[in-house]
Amino acid sequence: MEAMKTAQFLGLCFILLLHSAAMASSPRKPVSVPFHNNYVSSWGADHIKQYHGGRKAELLLNKQYGAGFESKGTYLFGHFSMQIKMVPGDSSGTVTAFYLSSQTAEHDEIDFEFLGNKSGEPYILQTNVFTGGKGEREHRIYLWFDPTKDYHSYAVLWNMYQIVFLVDEVPIRVFKNSKDLGVRYPFNQPMKLYSSLWNADDWATRGGLEKTDWSKAPFIASYKQFHVDACEASAPHSVCATQGRRWWDQEEFRDLDGRQWRYLKWVRKHYTIYNYCTDTPRNKQMPPECVRDRDNI
Ligand SMILES: *[C@@H]1O[C@H](CO)[C@@H](O)[C@H](O)[C@H]1NC(C)=O
Repeated sequence: MEAMKTAQFLGLCFILLLHSAAMASSPRKPVSVPFHNNYVSSWGADHIKQYHGGRKAELLLNKQYGAGFESKGTYLFGHFSMQIKMVPGDSSGTVTAFYLSSQTAEHDEIDFEFLGNKSGEPYILQTNVFTGGKGEREHRIYLWFDPTKDYHSYAVLWNMYQIVFLVDEVPIRVFKNSKDLGVRYPFNQPMKLYSSLWNADDWATRGGLEKTDWSKAPFIASYKQFHVDACEASAPHSVCATQGRRWWDQEEFRDLDGRQWRYLKWVRKHYTIYNYCTDTPRNKQMPPECVRDRDNI
């Protein structure tokens, strides 16, 4: 009798173990959560519109101001994504951003910035990584599609090993943990997710030559599929409660796989406009994290 109970108990443990291993190792399909569950406005609240019970949201920019929102939660590591349809038509001078930031004195930040353009001219996607308050790690690419025609998914995968920027599942950039080379890596400052739309016609389009045409206002960026699968860590806590146990911590997410490397090379070869790693006038020496990655540039 006792033996049977023990056997049953062990069986149950085994099933639970299998179950939790599966939970840990498989990325959850993006689950769309209504906008207001996860986000609040940071500024320009009346320039944020929600539709279909928060399944879709819009940010508006006019001559007076733009708008921005932020996640209610603060996170250490995970997978963050959103579908965005960029400002259509003449969007010169406008910038739509999607980023994670710790907003601390020596801040960590992971940035996507979409620089608008004249009708029919290509947007630029600029990305950057700040660690301990230091940035100047810009990459600039053109996209392989018109980002104003449809919604596309923009995502960040962030774990102890790497930060991957993804556009429709295609890795467009990877920032490896190069702590061993003396480069700070975001690991102990929880971040919130932000998005905003604002006027930056002093630099955004053709280096500031192309100004915002206010007769075309309001400029509208549209959002849906708000997805976060991450370790929530309140701001003063610098550790994630489930550190090492979630799917993004597992072996297969510690590096890109062969297919992902091929995609990244394709982006580097055909769509890259600027990469700080190869900006020799600016960096007298190639930054250490770039040296590590040299074969892949
Ligand atoms: C806008 O279009 C011009 C001309 O095609 C191009 O040089 C520029 O890189 C494009 N993007 C931005 C954001 O300036």
